[in-house]
Amino acid sequence: MSKELIRLSGVSVAFDGEIVLDDMNIHFNDKEFLTLLGPSGCGKTTTLRIIGGFLVPTAGDVFFDNVRINNVPPHKRQVNTVFQKYALFPHLNVFENIAFGLHLVRPKLSKKEIHDRVMEMLEIVSLKGFENRSVSLLSGGQQQRVAIARALVNRPRVLLLDEPLGALDLRLRKDMQNELKRIQQAMEITFIYVTHDQEEALAMSDTVVVMNEGKIQQIGTPEDIYNEPENAFVADFIGESNIVDGFMCADKVVEIFGRKFECVDGGFAPNEPVDVVIRPEDVDIVPEKDGMLTGTVTNITFKGVHYDIIVDFKGFKWLIQSTDPSPVGAKIGIKIDPDGFHIMKKSRYSGMFGDYSSYSAEYDEIGDLEYEPSENEAELEEEMRYDF
Ligand SMILES: Nc1ncnc2c1ncn2[C@@H]1O[C@H](COP(=O)(O)OP(=O)(O)OP(=O)(O)O)[C@@H](O)[C@H]1O
Ligand SMILES: [Mg+2]
Repeated sequence: MSKELIRLSGVSVAFDGEIVLDDMNIHFNDKEFLTLLGPSGCGKTTTLRIIGGFLVPTAGDVFFDNVRINNVPPHKRQVNTVFQKYALFPHLNVFENIAFGLHLVRPKLSKKEIHDRVMEMLEIVSLKGFENRSVSLLSGGQQQRVAIARALVNRPRVLLLDEPLGALDLRLRKDMQNELKRIQQAMEITFIYVTHDQEEALAMSDTVVVMNEGKIQQIGTPEDIYNEPENAFVADFIGESNIVDGFMCADKVVEIFGRKFECVDGGFAPNEPVDVVIRPEDVDIVPEKDGMLTGTVTNITFKGVHYDIIVDFKGFKWLIQSTDPSPVGAKIGIKIDPDGFHIMKKSRYSGMFGDYSSYSAEYDEIGDLEYEPSENEAELEEEMRYDF
């Protein structure tokens, strides 16, 4: 098990009386790749500034190796930062840009030591042979590597990265995600990475911290966060989710739409109201007569690997993902395995997310299958025919 390196204990930050970080309690392990993930304005950069020493918390404490460092200035912390706008010096070459990081903090190094350190960094960021190039002649991805090398050349124990790939196009972004992971493992240091891109967070991290409105919503492995979201905000922010109101009748029995279903969760009070998450890929489309629930397809969009199918269940619209198309207007049945239901406690986010009604206008416009009226125009007598 990795050992704890940094701890934020009850950290709050307020600007002009407005709270932007609210009682954060979190620790960061040594050699861990941890990502702060959340929408714009949720407090990600503010959290990095606290760790980097650029901002003193309004309340609470910051510990590094169990020592309180609230008032330790940035250059005395074993922490460096890479920003989205990495600001290389255009008049210096690659070598000089990287060496600049050393001159700042270690002015007493010999020429040879500087040379060896810079060369070691060029190797790590895969830029060997580029040392004499002008940085203005490098691609965006290569410039980003120089910025990372400059931040790592002092051998910090922690690298803070604030949306470092934001300026790159999608393809380069994916390549750099792998590169960053490789560099973190090669250097054996802690990376604290900030992004609002959930795919990026899931792909790169050992630990993901989901934030919203200055509060930590959940801390976990990428798998935990995806499979076991703690509230409707997390379920909605990470991947696609249908979220419906339900009741826990007993352990492993949940009621939605007035029907009981077998699930795998327990530990709730009898008849406790809950939020039920059903991921689009966990729903199987079956013939209407075999369905646990039946509904009507209102939209379908081809997404490459699968189809996004919007299905209306008595006015509730779900997103279902399937490799087989179902035409608009079709009456279908669905089946969900017990582990396809994920049960969450009610939260302040209940009822705010997880319904796909608002997506339908958008899907209407981009839906690429023609509308095919159902042959059976009669109203469904009973849409929900599943008895547990
Ligand atoms: N120096 C400041 N003075 C006043 N308000 C600030 C200051 N710095 C940040 N804020 C506010 O604090 C909140 C959190 O800002 P922060 O920069 O941490 O968000 P973020 O999660 O990094 O967002 P983004 O993804 O857009 O970069 C925002 O509402 C922001 O306007
Ligand atoms: Mg930010």
